Amino acid sequence: MKTVRVAVAGLGVVGSETVRLLRSRRESLARRLNAKLELVAVCDRAIHSKARGLRLPAKIKRFSDPSRLAACGADIIVELLGGLPAPRSLVLDCLRRGRHVVTANKRLLAHCWPELRRAQSHGSLHFEASVAGGIPILKALDLSLAGDRIEAVGGILNGTTNFILTRMSEGLGASAALKKAQELGLAESDPSRDLNGQDAADKVSVLASLVTGSWQKPDRIETQGIEGIESQDIAFAQSVLGRRIKLLGMVRLKDRGVEALVCPFLVPLAHPLAAVRDEFNAVLVQAASAGELMFYGRGAGAGPAASAVMGDICVAARDILSGVRAEAAADRHAEARPASSPWSFYLRLAALDRPGVLSSVASVLGRRGISISTIHQPGATGSRSVPIIITTHPTSAEDFCRAKREILALSSVSRQHMIMRLLP
Ligand SMILES: NC(=O)c1ccc[n+]([C@@H]2O[C@H](COP(=O)([O-])OP(=O)(O)OC[C@H]3O[C@@H](n4cnc5c(N)ncnc54)[C@H](OP(=O)(O)O)[C@@H]3O)[C@@H](O)[C@H]2O)c1
Repeated sequence: MKTVRVAVAGLGVVGSETVRLLRSRRESLARRLNAKLELVAVCDRAIHSKARGLRLPAKIKRFSDPSRLAACGADIIVELLGGLPAPRSLVLDCLRRGRHVVTANKRLLAHCWPELRRAQSHGSLHFEASVAGGIPILKALDLSLAGDRIEAVGGILNGTTNFILTRMSEGLGASAALKKAQELGLAESDPSRDLNGQDAADKVSVLASLVTGSWQKPDRIETQGIEGIESQDIAFAQSVLGRRIKLLGMVRLKDRGVEALVCPFLVPLAHPLAAVRDEFNAVLVQAASAGELMFYGRGAGAGPAASAVMGDICVAARDILSGVRAEAAADRHAEARPASSPWSFYLRLAALDRPGVLSSVASVLGRRGISISTIHQPGATGSRSVPIIITTHPTSAEDFCRAKREILALSSVSRQHMIMRLLP
């Protein structure tokens, strides 16, 4: 029986579980692949204590410096370090040496897509776990739907923020909901990349680059997180508008370019994404022939992420055994052209409780040609500052932003505000 040698860099949450699965499923994997998957090397900063914790046999090579893994004799190198500089040099070095590489690193993919793509002409790169953890969305897009035309893909791509929004919809405040997520290990001690939408933007970048064949730079993705969403927004959305707030990342392919964004949306209660609760992810795909498809599951955690990594290891092993090397499709353009479409907006303002304020806000919107769908002044109880909540009919984001700036400059309106979009 042939042997395929595997090395794992990073023995943290995902790396430790991957090593455990490689060892505990050794026999069933051998039957499935008709070859042995042999763990030959591991790497981590705290390599000795981590290897001891995993009870690894002495014959497995141990490194604390990832740069030494490229030449360790493995056929497949699995990068689970996280971050950018060390993974970038390791992955590029391995690809240039013609190795098969598996990574779960969305930041690396989002920020270094073109150079990784070029380096794939030597080795092959697999990255299923980088988007939506255990949900096999990238293989579905790249393989199962290869003969279809993808029109849109996106959904709930960040489990931490979905958990927080779920708890807030049950009455918990934003900081208590974040604390709960941290207690349960669903949010890191520094959750800023989750809360400000950057984590989801990296995933949108990977999805967009994959389906369009053009690099979607993360800094060209309009990104807004869940910071600033208050309990009053959640309650109002639910009780008055019949909607639930979800942080969505989406990619829509237009005739003239690609619309890619991450922002909080008010989703109709009957929409399938409204029912996705807690730390779960869900991805909707709109394909020309297959129609609408929905993928649902856990987007993070040791088990789901390691399951996706193991799938990639098996695909790479099959390619090695059959002598095939998965060619990356040639990228069509250096960068995707940005496009945008009209959206209905939700705007919460804080304004002085005095006559004429509503009409001055409405007249700014009217002058900009923005049609108001609903306007509410909940809780107008005579206090100095009251909320005004406006929803609009579909309008361009540029026109809406210009109107917003004008409204916030009114003397009767405070700078504090919240903007979201309404999913049709
Ligand atoms: N956790 C998830 O649920 C999940 C899901 C999908 C994808 N991912 C992705 O999977 C990757 C790994 O995530 P993780 O949660 O397993 O991270 P983690 O728990 O922080 O594990 C990373 C391990 O690699 C070590 N390491 C990092 N840089 C190193 C370097 N330069 N040299 C030597 N060792 C180094 C870390 O050591 P120190 O702790 O000492 O830095 C740590 O032990 C990330 O790219 C992440 O985005 C994670």
